[in-house]
Amino acid sequence: MTAYVRRFSRTERILHWANALGFLLLLATGLILYLPSLAVLVGRRPLIQDIHFWSGVGWVTILVAIPLLGDRRGIARLAREVDRFDRDDVRWLLRRSPAPQGRFNAGQKLNTALTAAFTLLFLVSGLLLWFGERDTRFRLAGTVLLHDGVMYVALVLLVGHLYLAVIHPATRHALRGITLGTVREDWAARHHAKWRPE
Ligand code: HEM
Ligand code: HEM
Repeated sequence: MTAYVRRFSRTERILHWANALGFLLLLATGLILYLPSLAVLVGRRPLIQDIHFWSGVGWVTILVAIPLLGDRRGIARLAREVDRFDRDDVRWLLRRSPAPQGRFNAGQKLNTALTAAFTLLFLVSGLLLWFGERDTRFRLAGTVLLHDGVMYVALVLLVGHLYLAVIHPATRHALRGITLGTVREDWAARHHAKWRPE
């Protein structure tokens, strides 16, 4: 019989999917504002602007609320886990083998750090764009460039993320972990040799 181990708690999974859904909604509404062909096709610009801004505010609020209302200690442990880079992580990034990995490999740790940083940059530049339309004191050169630039980089990261999560044969088993919560024990041992599941 196949043995499974728990990879993600309920709070972690809810956090991931709330983040992903919010991001995709913001990407869709942001692209309608950004691409002239989509803007003409959809029309109703003021409505899309409002949906985009308030979805952004709601998105960040939910991302803060989920850890507070859920398994707070678990999320604090997760933050420490992804924050810590050891020698094996450096070896992994430099492609020096052997470099056994913990619950998250060095690439995933980097992805998490960048995702968190981008969320903050989206929020700050988005708030400046919103207030800048209402008060010229908040109108700073480069705000649009920052908001758009972060979108481009985040998009490249997402394409890589989706390739690893749903296409690449060696890693796509991870999808089971982020949906059902568990992964095969032998898969975990192969990809995350230093991780000791509970
Ligand atoms: C906290 C989150 C966010 C807030 C508060 C926010 C806010 C805003 C605001 C106020 C605008 C200006 C709308 C206008 O007047 O036309 C804007 C534009 C835009 N946003 Fe966001 N945003 C957020 C997150 C995101 C995310 C996650 C993405 C994409 C992944 C994104 C993509 C865009 C794009 C493409 C534009 C159009 C910029 C342009 O016209 O050059 N935003 N955003
Ligand atoms: C919508 C489709 C998406 C799918 C199918 C998906 C799939 C996954 C999977 C399978 C994992 C677990 C990997 C592991 O076992 O450690 C994961 C983790 C993660 N996802 Fe997603 N994801 C999606 C969207 C997103 C989006 C939009 C973001 C951010 C904007 C995101 C950010 C993350 C982060 C930061 C992690 C933890 C680190 C990592 O594994 O890279 N995901 N995702």
